[in-house]
Amino acid sequence: MKLIFLLLPAIALSCTSRDKYFKFVDYYPGSQDTNVILTAPHDGWIKLDSIPDRRQGCYDNVTKTCNWRHDCPGERVTGKCNAVTNSDLHSSILAKQMRKTISEKTGKTPHLVVSRLHRSKLDPNRFKDDAAQYNSVSDRAYDTFHGIIKRVHNILAARGPAVHFDIHGYVTHATDNWTEIGYNIQRSRLNADNFTEEESSLRALAARAAARGIQFDDLVRGENSLGKLVQDEGFRVVPSPEYSRPEMGTEGKYFRGGYITRKWGSLNGGEIDCVQIEFPQWIRDDTEFYGPKLGSAMATWIQKYYPSD
Ligand SMILES: *[C@@H]1O[C@H](CO)[C@@H](O)[C@H](O)[C@H]1NC(C)=O
Ligand SMILES: *[C@@H]1O[C@H](CO)[C@@H](O)[C@H](O)[C@H]1NC(C)=O
Ligand SMILES: *[C@@H]1O[C@H](CO)[C@@H](O)[C@H](O)[C@H]1NC(C)=O
Repeated sequence: MKLIFLLLPAIALSCTSRDKYFKFVDYYPGSQDTNVILTAPHDGWIKLDSIPDRRQGCYDNVTKTCNWRHDCPGERVTGKCNAVTNSDLHSSILAKQMRKTISEKTGKTPHLVVSRLHRSKLDPNRFKDDAAQYNSVSDRAYDTFHGIIKRVHNILAARGPAVHFDIHGYVTHATDNWTEIGYNIQRSRLNADNFTEEESSLRALAARAAARGIQFDDLVRGENSLGKLVQDEGFRVVPSPEYSRPEMGTEGKYFRGGYITRKWGSLNGGEIDCVQIEFPQWIRDDTEFYGPKLGSAMATWIQKYYPSD
């Protein structure tokens, strides 16, 4: 009986998305009672020859926008409209390990959605024109990836507060060598100690936490933050009580979250928050060791702020 209930979401989803583009996305259904979803958009490995590589777009210096069509008119301006095509290697394996640990610690298995197309072919963490660059296959794979997220969010939203973790990795500023938790708060705003819940993908939680007497600054980087729990597992992490501002790093670089964080977080309403987490390569290269530590910190945070029966 229980098995049937666990399988229901999987069946419902695969029937409604019965198209060949489903093969470009892996969906691992969560348990019936979970209120957690994980996504890994940048660890895809399929490089179909029939899809041209994503490339730099043309910059329109009047409208200050990018045209991502491969035959775009106009110039390709250095530093503008760059297409990032490197993958966040092993970030989906780390996400799987986190899902396993969260399941063990909370008794509820999160949903997980993994993009299988290499980032040189599709980047689901961008607006569609940049993400798929007008290729019809990439375009449909993008719709499939976000379509599954939408269906899962609809299931979660019907039951109350929920959280979405978007799992990433960086290589560009390895000397900072830390884990970056993104709530869509700009680096400059963290550095200036000047930010508010209005700009955050954690806006829904901020309101509930405030009702419990937890101020937003504390929720983001104080004793009541996810950063504190990750720090307690032995990681360098920003924002956290130890590294409250990105400028405290060697290079001070920091990603606040991308398209997925803004689209699927509670920034514009709703009860589902989104958190982007960026990991250096060495953590993604030893997921069996680091995954359970990170998963434990996330599980404690989930139990504290997203209780469900
Ligand atoms: C905008 O682009 C046009 C066409 O390439 C160029 O002639 C012009 O100098 C550019 N303007 C600015 C402000 O860069
Ligand atoms: C980053 O930290 C890890 C763990 O402490 C260490 O093994 C690695 O050498 C460090 N890398 C850099 C670039 O500092
Ligand atoms: C905080 O940031 C906002 C938005 O950039 C700015 O308008 C405001 O002046 C800043 N406040 C302080 C005290 O710096």
